Amino acid sequence: MNMVSEIKGKHLWFDGCDTVELAKEFGTPLYVYSKTDIVSRIAELKECWIKPYPKNRIAYAAKAFCCMGMYKLCENEGISMDVVSGGELYTAMKAGINPAKLEFNGNNKLPKELEAAIDYGVERIVIDGVQELELIESICKKLGKKTDILIRVTPCVEVDTHDFIVTGRKDSKFGLNIEPEFIFPYVKRAIDSEYVNFHGFHFHLGSQLFDVKPFLDATAVMLQLMKDTREKFGFVCDELNIGGGPGVTYINEERPPYRYFYDPVLEKVEAFCKAEDYPMPAMICEPGRSIVAEAGLQLYTVGMTKEVIGIRKYAAIDGGMPDNIRPALYGAKYKGIVANRADEPADETVTICGKCCEGDSDMIIKDAPFAMPKTGDIIAVFSTGAYGYSMANNYNRNPIPGVILVEKGKAEWMVKPQTYEQMICCDVIPESLK
Ligand code: LLP
Repeated sequence: MNMVSEIKGKHLWFDGCDTVELAKEFGTPLYVYSKTDIVSRIAELKECWIKPYPKNRIAYAAKAFCCMGMYKLCENEGISMDVVSGGELYTAMKAGINPAKLEFNGNNKLPKELEAAIDYGVERIVIDGVQELELIESICKKLGKKTDILIRVTPCVEVDTHDFIVTGRKDSKFGLNIEPEFIFPYVKRAIDSEYVNFHGFHFHLGSQLFDVKPFLDATAVMLQLMKDTREKFGFVCDELNIGGGPGVTYINEERPPYRYFYDPVLEKVEAFCKAEDYPMPAMICEPGRSIVAEAGLQLYTVGMTKEVIGIRKYAAIDGGMPDNIRPALYGAKYKGIVANRADEPADETVTICGKCCEGDSDMIIKDAPFAMPKTGDIIAVFSTGAYGYSMANNYNRNPIPGVILVEKGKAEWMVKPQTYEQMICCDVIPESLK
């Protein structure tokens, strides 16, 4: 349970709201986000990252949870946002976000996506592919614009997390190789380009990380690159982006405070700048998961229950892998509770399964302690705010559930539940089949 969850009477409460009432009012399945939690994470981050260096930036990685309301919340809190597709960019623009608050990442940005980003005038484009500089230049030429860029490199640092979410190792689809014979001619081209303003480097190691060491190792690699760039071309980088990655609590993991990662990184950069007489670059971080994961709660209603005697007790919910694909993709583990009987002991071992035509991959929580769920009970699953809604899909033509934002007892829609009509609105029956 996180800072805004509490058990009052028989029910689970979340940011001042009775979750059983939320389920009644808004229906299930439902994604619930606590504004109090998100705002306090951002405040903690600003305290260690922006306060000592006001030029530093936080760019919330929107891929963790993306909707117009979330962009607006970030803008209201004064932070930038990292987008990775034309769709995320479009969502931000439709929310009325100032494009000068958007950083554009991604390993294969499409020409039309880059064109939109350059036309809007995003704050930074992070080059992440060999051909991207040329593509950006041709678009800038066509539009008569200049754009600000960073270059993402693979620092070749290993991290300890699920293999699918490691990105900073040498063998990665992301980033440019840092072999000197490749990277320096590329950097030189960027410095000399009449269409881009080159600011510096970017790396991202991976996600759900608990150790600061890889951040420090990768920072050291970047500082060396910055030093070599100055030596070779007399160019001083004025930015360094260290990506996202800080880990969160799903079950018993001890979530480190932001300071654990970011103080030593800033100290390392400071020490380098002092020793090398290098102006302190503006530092950018791009956390996604750690801003929204624990602020998210999913609510479901129990339908069928089943006991396989001597083997397993199942409770089937009105959602499943389409609204949270992380257990299927990464073997991700979550904690849950029977929200309407939250005061009862969790004295049974229960598997919370979905309603999809899949077996083991459609289990949101496997063999975990619960009060035995009954038909009609509300199940709450904790720490579901990151990469849940944003990775939701329509498998088995289940509509994507709605999202509400709660704060101190108040609840509002943030995303309305998808309807069946909306789900079929792009379907066309070919003439030849009529
Ligand atoms: N910056 C870049 C360039 C990234 O690729 C990512 C995440 C982030 C920032 C944010 O990282 P975070 O702070 O959230 O760890 N779907 C997976 C996670 C994929 C992360 C991809 N990149 C999951 O559900 O675990």
